[in-house]
Amino acid sequence: MESLINLFEYEEFAKQNLSRMAYDYYSSGAWDEVTLRDNRAAFERIKLRPRMLVDVSKRDLSTSVLGQALQFPLLVAPMAFQCLAHPEGEVATAKAAASASVGMILSTMSTKSLEEVALAPGNSNFTSTQWFQLYIHKDRGLTRALVERAYSAGYKALCLTVDAPVLGRREKDKHNEFVLPPDLQLANLANMSQLKITQEKGESGLFAYFAQQLDAAVTWDDLQWLQSLSPLPLVVKGILRGDDAIRAVECGVKGIVVSNHGGRQLDGAIASVNALPEIVTAVDGRAEIFIDGGIRRGVDILKALALGATAVLIGRPILWGLAVDGQAGVSRVIEILCSELDLAMALSGCAKLEDIDISLVI
Ligand code: GLV
Repeated sequence: MESLINLFEYEEFAKQNLSRMAYDYYSSGAWDEVTLRDNRAAFERIKLRPRMLVDVSKRDLSTSVLGQALQFPLLVAPMAFQCLAHPEGEVATAKAAASASVGMILSTMSTKSLEEVALAPGNSNFTSTQWFQLYIHKDRGLTRALVERAYSAGYKALCLTVDAPVLGRREKDKHNEFVLPPDLQLANLANMSQLKITQEKGESGLFAYFAQQLDAAVTWDDLQWLQSLSPLPLVVKGILRGDDAIRAVECGVKGIVVSNHGGRQLDGAIASVNALPEIVTAVDGRAEIFIDGGIRRGVDILKALALGATAVLIGRPILWGLAVDGQAGVSRVIEILCSELDLAMALSGCAKLEDIDISLVI
């Protein structure tokens, strides 16, 4: 789809290819969507102080996250139910991420199994940095099995989502009585008979799933147990305060994703980019810091890196690419962001990522 030149145009086009239920599920935020809008607005409020007369004739956007090389400081955020956007779902996303040499975090709630997704990049010449996102189920045996499977399938890190002890209230999903179509399933959890859920009338099926299956009693004390299950480094996603970030570091966490879950959990929560500086200061280099929420332009990535992030996670725009054109659409969305960041770096006097520092933003 060469005629679509930015991520906003991808969303407009994708909307036409998606069922109402799927588009509402992907796009909506919690309650009044104040945080959803503010994630974006906060990036727009940050202004740049570009440097001039720097040799930017050659630019290098490569980096590494938790010791894994990336061509570009981007990971695909964990997002549930990608087969709602395209029949190849998470497999198409994984192939596109691997061929661009960026990272991908697979959701526990994927519609392709973690084993199938791990194999997806096949024998491509490109490196594949895949992490597995985890929700802790009340059934700890099931959680342990997921971690063991992710480790044996070759995932490089576990990304524990900590901002969803219960699901935020997305009112459109409630109106739509959100449910997966009968031909799709929670592929990682298939054949687990204990996972039967009851969905009341006027309720989102995912809201019911969280209430009935996920463990709202998880605390910092559980991180030790989680880390004992595999040698995989632990990343926590959904931190918005410096003191929580320090606690995470003290628990041995290697990466922190500053996130409010794309505005889908606590409406009124601080925009993620506004929480970033406090967390960068608190962590003081003891863990890698990532951010998601509201990033729609390469220049937003520049701003996030200037404020101290190692890399960014991109969520919804990946789904728009997937809905428009499967793997090719995801590749194109990544490519657009990459070329926008490259241009923003050139125009602000940065030839490599290390040149992007706090003095660039105001
Ligand atoms: C699932 O994690 C969601 O945010 O819908």
